Amino acid sequence: PLPALIDPFARPITYLRVSVTDRCDFRCVYCMAEHMQFLPKADLLTLEELDRLCTAFIGLGVRKLRITGGEPLVRRGIMGFFRNVARHLGQGLDELTLTTNGSQLARHAAELAEIGVRRVNVSLDTLDPDKFAAITRWGRLPQVLDGVRAATAAGLRVKINAVALKGVNDAELFDLVRWCGDEGHDLTFIEVMPMGEMGEENRLDQYWPLSDLRAQLAERFTLIDLAERTGGPARYVKLAETGQKIGFITPLTHNFCESCNRVRVTCTGELFMCLGQEDNADLRAPLRASPDDAALEQTIRAAIARKPKGHDFDYSRQKVDGQMTRHMSHTGG
Ligand code: GTP
Ligand code: 5AD
Ligand code: SF4
Repeated sequence: PLPALIDPFARPITYLRVSVTDRCDFRCVYCMAEHMQFLPKADLLTLEELDRLCTAFIGLGVRKLRITGGEPLVRRGIMGFFRNVARHLGQGLDELTLTTNGSQLARHAAELAEIGVRRVNVSLDTLDPDKFAAITRWGRLPQVLDGVRAATAAGLRVKINAVALKGVNDAELFDLVRWCGDEGHDLTFIEVMPMGEMGEENRLDQYWPLSDLRAQLAERFTLIDLAERTGGPARYVKLAETGQKIGFITPLTHNFCESCNRVRVTCTGELFMCLGQEDNADLRAPLRASPDDAALEQTIRAAIARKPKGHDFDYSRQKVDGQMTRHMSHTGG
C-alpha cells in the first residue's frame, strides 16, 4: 500500500475537517457579516462529491472526520451523507463527528447517534439569552439548549466551544464552567481568531487572551495542567476541587502547530493545509474532471507535501493587516 499522508515536517495527517456549506441560520459576529453573500449552489461540492472526497482521504490514512460549515445541519440531505460516510467507521475511520451551532440538533440527535456519531461539538458562548442573541444575531438560546439536551439524551457526548470575547461574554464564562460541570459536558474556550471582514466590531478589540481567564480560574480553583493532548488544538487543565476538565484553544498566545495533524476542505473543495494560511489546492477540478480518483489523490498528496510549518495569525501587527479576509464559515474553523 502507498504510504499514508505525511507532511514535510514529519506530521502524519490523520484528521480531516470538511465544511459542507457556507450557510448558517445564525450570524455570529466573529464568523459572518450580517448580510452575507452566499455561494452559488453550483460552486458547492455535491453530497456525492463530498462522499468521494472523504472516501479518498480515508483511503489515504485519515482516521477522524469532522463535518463543519457554516452550519452542517442546514445542508439539505446531510443526514443521508452522514449515513453514507458512516460505512467507513471501523473500516479505516475511527471517528465521525461534527461541529454544530446546535439549532437543529433536537431534530437530528437520535439519528446521528444511531448512525454511529459518538460526540458533537456545540458552539455556545454564553448562557445569557440576551448576550446569546447579541453574539449570534439570529440565534435563540432555548433552541440550542434543547439541542444539547437532545444530544445528551441520545447518548452523544457534548463538547461546548465558547469563544472568549472581551467586554461581551468574559464576565459569564464562569457560569459556563459551572453549567458544563453540572451537566457533564466537556468545555473548551477559544481565543477569537482574526478572520472575516472587519465591521464596526473589530476582532482585535474583542480579543481576550485566555491566559487572563486561566488566571481568574486559578484564583478560585487549583489548576492541574494535563499533559495529554487529544489530537486537537486544545490544552487541558483539571480543576482539582471538582475534577472537571477545561480546554483552552489559544492559537494566538500558545500555538499548537508543531503537533498539527489536520487539513481542512471548504464547501467548494479547496484544500487548506493550514487554517491560518492562504495556500490551498483545488480538489473540485479533479473531482469533476474524472470519475476516477487518481488525479484527486495526486492533488491531495502534492498539497500535503507543501503544508506549512504554522499559521500567521498575529495580533501584534497593525490592525486590519493582521486580519485574514477568508470567513470562518467558508473554511469551517
Ligand atoms: P476535537 O479536538 O476533535 O474535539 O475538535 P476541535 O476542538 O479541533 O474542533 P472544533 O470544531 O470544536 O474547533 C474548535 C476550535 O478550534 C475552532 O475555533 C476551530 O477553528 C479551532 N481549530 C481547529 N483546528 C484548528 C487549527 O488547526 N488551527 C487553529 N488555529 N485553530 C483550529
Ligand atoms: N475565532 C475563533 N473561533 C471562531 N469560531 C468561528 N469563528 C471564529 C473566530 N473568528 C468558532 C465557532 C465554532 C468553531 C468551529 O469555530 O464558535 O465553535
Ligand atoms: Fe453559524 Fe457557527 Fe458561524 Fe455562528 S460561528 S455564524 S453558528 S457557522
